[in-house]
Amino acid sequence: MENTFEPKVVAFCCHYCAYSAADLAGSMRLEYSPNVRIVRLMCTGKVDTLHLLKAFEDGADAVFVAGCEEGSCHFQEGNLFARQKVIEAKKLLKEVGIEPERLEMYHIAASNSVLFAKAADEMTERAHKLGPNPLKTQGKSI
Ligand code: FES
Repeated sequence: MENTFEPKVVAFCCHYCAYSAADLAGSMRLEYSPNVRIVRLMCTGKVDTLHLLKAFEDGADAVFVAGCEEGSCHFQEGNLFARQKVIEAKKLLKEVGIEPERLEMYHIAASNSVLFAKAADEMTERAHKLGPNPLKTQGKSI
């Protein structure tokens, strides 16, 4: 039987860097996974652990946060706070039986459209390998 699973991937992207990189990828007609849905934030420092968990509860199969490179955050250390939130959320996901690899943090410069495309493809591929988010198949919530 053919596997028809098409993962839903949510990307929380900072306006200044990762979102610009995604925009540039589009302008350059770089191909990347169409499974990715972008949530634009002014800074990834606005991401809270709850936002990440809620994305999974709402049916995401993989989630990534993409902020500025280290030392380049327009709000000083928002990207470092975001990285910490991702680490915390990974621990919580593991506790509730969701593979932590479904969540990742990337640091992507505005000019690095190739890295954005790679991140989008990588997270889609991970979700393909892991299968549907267990919350969906087991009818559970976090
Ligand atoms: Fe990009 Fe803070 S402004 S991560």
